[in-house]
Amino acid sequence: MTMISKDILTLSCLICISACVLSVVKAADPVLSPETISDSNGNSADRNSDITWSDIPTFATYLAGSVVYNDNGLGPMYDFAKSFINGGVFPYDLPWGKINHLLLQTIHVNMMRNYILYLRQFGGYGACIIIGFLFIFLFPIIGFCFCCCRCCGNCGGKMEQNKSDAGAHIKRRIFACILFVLIAFTLAGNVSVFVTNDQISYALDNIDDAVTRNLDDLSSYVNNTIDQIRYVANDNFNFTLDVVFRDLDNIAYILGIPLRQSLSNSGGINNAINSGYALENRVSSISNTLLAVNTTLDDVKTKGNILKSNLSDLKADIDTTCVSPCSINTAGVVIGFDNNDFPDISDPVSKISDVQAQNLTAVVVDAQKEFDDIPWRVHNESLTAVTDLKDMISNFSGKLDDLVDQMVTAQDSLSGSTLNDFKTQVRDYVDIAEQYDKYRHYGGVALGCTVLLVVVLQFFGLAFGVLGHRDVSPVNRGCMGTTGGNMLMASVGFVFIFSWLLMLLTTLTFIIGAPLEKFLCKTLTSPDMSDLDELVDERIFKIMYPDRDSGTLLGVAIFGNDTVDLKFTQMLQDCQAGKAAYVAFKLDNLFDISNFINYTNTMNISGEIDKIQNNIDLSDIEVLTPDLTSQLNNLKDSVNVNFTQFRDQLNKNATDQDLVDLANQLDTAASAASGITKTNLEALRDRTLAINNTEYANVMTAMTQLGTDLDSLETAVNGTTGDVDDVIVNFNTTQEYLRNNASSTIADEVRTYSDRIFSIIDSYIADVLYALNNELGTCEPIWTLYNSLVVITFCNYTIDTLNGFWFGLGWCIFFFVPSIIFAVKLAKHYRRMKQSDYNQNASFSSKNKVGHRDPAPPPYESNW
Ligand SMILES: *[C@@H]1O[C@H](CO)[C@@H](O)[C@H](O)[C@H]1NC(C)=O
Ligand SMILES: *[C@@H]1O[C@H](CO)[C@@H](O)[C@H](O)[C@H]1NC(C)=O
Ligand SMILES: *[C@@H]1O[C@H](CO)[C@@H](O)[C@H](O)[C@H]1NC(C)=O
Ligand SMILES: *[C@@H]1O[C@H](CO)[C@@H](O)[C@H](O)[C@H]1NC(C)=O
Ligand SMILES: *[C@@H]1O[C@H](CO)[C@@H](O)[C@H](O)[C@H]1NC(C)=O
Ligand SMILES: *[C@@H]1O[C@H](CO)[C@@H](O)[C@H](O)[C@H]1NC(C)=O
Ligand SMILES: *[C@@H]1O[C@H](CO)[C@@H](O)[C@H](O)[C@H]1NC(C)=O
Ligand SMILES: *[C@@H]1O[C@H](CO)[C@@H](O)[C@H](O)[C@H]1NC(C)=O
Ligand SMILES: *[C@@H]1O[C@H](CO)[C@@H](O)[C@H](O)[C@H]1NC(C)=O
Ligand SMILES: *[C@@H]1O[C@H](CO)[C@@H](O)[C@H](O)[C@H]1NC(C)=O
Ligand SMILES: *[C@@H]1O[C@H](CO)[C@@H](O)[C@H](O)[C@H]1NC(C)=O
Repeated sequence: MTMISKDILTLSCLICISACVLSVVKAADPVLSPETISDSNGNSADRNSDITWSDIPTFATYLAGSVVYNDNGLGPMYDFAKSFINGGVFPYDLPWGKINHLLLQTIHVNMMRNYILYLRQFGGYGACIIIGFLFIFLFPIIGFCFCCCRCCGNCGGKMEQNKSDAGAHIKRRIFACILFVLIAFTLAGNVSVFVTNDQISYALDNIDDAVTRNLDDLSSYVNNTIDQIRYVANDNFNFTLDVVFRDLDNIAYILGIPLRQSLSNSGGINNAINSGYALENRVSSISNTLLAVNTTLDDVKTKGNILKSNLSDLKADIDTTCVSPCSINTAGVVIGFDNNDFPDISDPVSKISDVQAQNLTAVVVDAQKEFDDIPWRVHNESLTAVTDLKDMISNFSGKLDDLVDQMVTAQDSLSGSTLNDFKTQVRDYVDIAEQYDKYRHYGGVALGCTVLLVVVLQFFGLAFGVLGHRDVSPVNRGCMGTTGGNMLMASVGFVFIFSWLLMLLTTLTFIIGAPLEKFLCKTLTSPDMSDLDELVDERIFKIMYPDRDSGTLLGVAIFGNDTVDLKFTQMLQDCQAGKAAYVAFKLDNLFDISNFINYTNTMNISGEIDKIQNNIDLSDIEVLTPDLTSQLNNLKDSVNVNFTQFRDQLNKNATDQDLVDLANQLDTAASAASGITKTNLEALRDRTLAINNTEYANVMTAMTQLGTDLDSLETAVNGTTGDVDDVIVNFNTTQEYLRNNASSTIADEVRTYSDRIFSIIDSYIADVLYALNNELGTCEPIWTLYNSLVVITFCNYTIDTLNGFWFGLGWCIFFFVPSIIFAVKLAKHYRRMKQSDYNQNASFSSKNKVGHRDPAPPPYESNW
């Protein structure tokens, strides 16, 4: 039994100790945990919940950034062609107003009056076309006439060289040089015809690839944007929640400790506590001196009683022995003070013992603990409000999810089947186009070869003529020169035969290519895009939405709203500059983020924080605990000693009769008496002296000690009442402050706390806004799409090449015309003539004897 009860005792002791340890742990000040927060994305928040947001990552890599334009060395020619179109064919800027009317087919009568304007604008173009068609019709006729003329022996058709002018050599050489130059120019044009012909096929091959890559990029871009939005709306929002929840969970630290600090500063708790601690020394000195007085007083009383009984025996014996006439008056042989006249200090003694037993310091510590536990009170009393607030903020993510869902819907409509359909369509068209392009390519090669044929004939004709020329009579010219001359004449014939066809193709491609360059590509590719707005947001817009009076193409197409001012060029330039989708596409018209920014309108955070404030009630904190009050009152009571009464007693003589004087009287009486009386009196005298030296002396010593102890006590208690009153006032001040002013301090501190919570959310909102305006879906890919599809694929590869083609062809024709003249002239100098006017005889003889020649000139002495 005893063993078991011992075990139980030990166990309960252990529980007690651990409970104590636990209560100590709970009483410890709260700490911020975790001190800093960070997530896997690199966002971090410090102790003050200042958040450092990391940059938003890019989730996609784009393919088409590498599309570059390669002009195969024809750049100068394209520039030449373009400056011909822009400077010569269409010298004036675009008359948008008139084009508008043309497009809408509402040319007024009024407009016709301005035909001059049209003439200026389209005069060059018309002139070129007219020249082209005139050429087509007239050139064959001229050729036919020329042919006839020559066949009839005119126009240099006679195989004779009429004049023997001395300048013939020089003429021939000059003509040869000029023709050579013309051949060189034509050859250059011819090469460019071949190259541009290939380039068109190359462009076609590229379109499919370019479109596919760009549409994939577009899809990547949309996906990337969605991923970034998810990143902001999920990851960053979660991080924000982490930080807010950290602060809510640490309300004891973040709100409680500053609150306690503030209350402590204004409520003077430290002052009270310190004054309380200061009493502790006083308590022990009072206790020590008071107990000393208690002891010596007891001593005085005990010894007083002994003296008192000795004196009363002595008095009785003197009265018995000294019979009348006895001169000794024994009335004074009594003790001089009454034990009961000493003040009763049992009450102060028990009070001070009580105070010391209770340990005043411990009581003050308890009072302080009430105050120190304010943070934990804050924690406990705000639990429900904090939970509610957490729920509310968590629910805010629902609003973000709605926003994200809206965007994902937009993505699905864009990225899903639409793009794939488009890609397939483009591939189909390109396949068909490639089939026909084969024939176009063959045709182009044939054209080039036609030109090449002429060039080759001219070149070899010239070469043969030059190499074969001998300084002999025209009728005696060699076979080589004649062949050269014939080749030149053949080239002239081919020029007459094919030029109209070449010119027809040149004119037709010119009719298509020149306006496309001027009106489309110049506008589309000009770096400042100055006319693009006009083209897109006025002309194309009017065509696509004829019933709308105002608006921009993209504004209506994307938002269906004609007040949205989303200009195409502005969008492109923004995208080129790498701006965010929200800015470039003015998506503020599509997504209403004001609710998000103004989250306080829908999320009553302030209300929940008010709840926190209302739930914290510190008015019932007791720093002036009942324990403390009673202890302080006990202390006050313990110094309630009537020193006056004490000293009155001490000032009394221990005996009314001086004992030495009594002894002298007894001695006098003994010397007067005799016998037994004398002996008895002498014994009484000795007893009196013995009492004087022992019991009386003891009392006197004790009284002296009591006086000393009283002095010590008086010093110890001096001022105690005032001090204790001060302590009570100090604690009461804190108590009253808590009762009356705590709520306003709480309000102040809660405001600071709520500012901190709000600043976390505001930081998130600011980060989202920054991301929206700067980082989310930066739309270079849109610019790349435009650049690679429109600028490079359409304008550079297709239109430039088309213009290069007709320009090259036209160039060749242009040099054909003079080359005809010089070829015909030169042929005369190279071919063997049928008759020569140098020598009529020779000519006759040559007429008679065909094949007769002058003696052959010495070889290798060509004189071209
Ligand atoms: C974009 O996302 C859609 C759906 O999530 C997916 O089918 C498509 O392959 C993605 N596009 C790219 C280029 O990653
Ligand atoms: C965000 O937090 C919610 C709830 O805690 C969780 O379901 C979701 O997966 C988290 N999202 C991210 C991106 O961490
Ligand atoms: C004070 O003295 C009384 C006798 O006079 C004694 O009974 C008592 O125990 C003393 N008190 C203390 C605390 O010593
Ligand atoms: C009184 O309590 C304090 C703190 O509780 C302690 O440090 C001190 O030792 C105690 N004094 C006595 C006399 O028990
Ligand atoms: C068009 O956008 C403007 C603001 O840009 C807005 O005030 C208006 O309500 C929108 N109209 C429609 C029909 O959505
Ligand atoms: C937010 O709300 C306030 C008043 O409720 C309003 O003045 C302010 O314009 C709103 N801000 C936005 C961006 O909607
Ligand atoms: C102290 O005792 C004296 C007489 O002994 C008395 O007159 C006086 O009133 C007492 N003082 C107090 C404060 O009780
Ligand atoms: C005490 O005794 C002395 C002489 O013995 C005497 O003078 C004095 O008056 C006495 N004091 C009192 C209060 O009786
Ligand atoms: C009587 O007692 C007092 C004090 O105790 C002492 O001073 C004195 O000498 C004594 N008288 C005689 C005669 O012994
Ligand atoms: C009590 O203390 C005050 C100031 O310290 C002093 O003036 C006074 O004399 C002291 N009284 C006693 C009885 O010691
Ligand atoms: C504390 O102070 C208030 C106001 O000053 C007063 O009403 C109250 O009685 C005081 N309480 C104590 C115990 O002194």
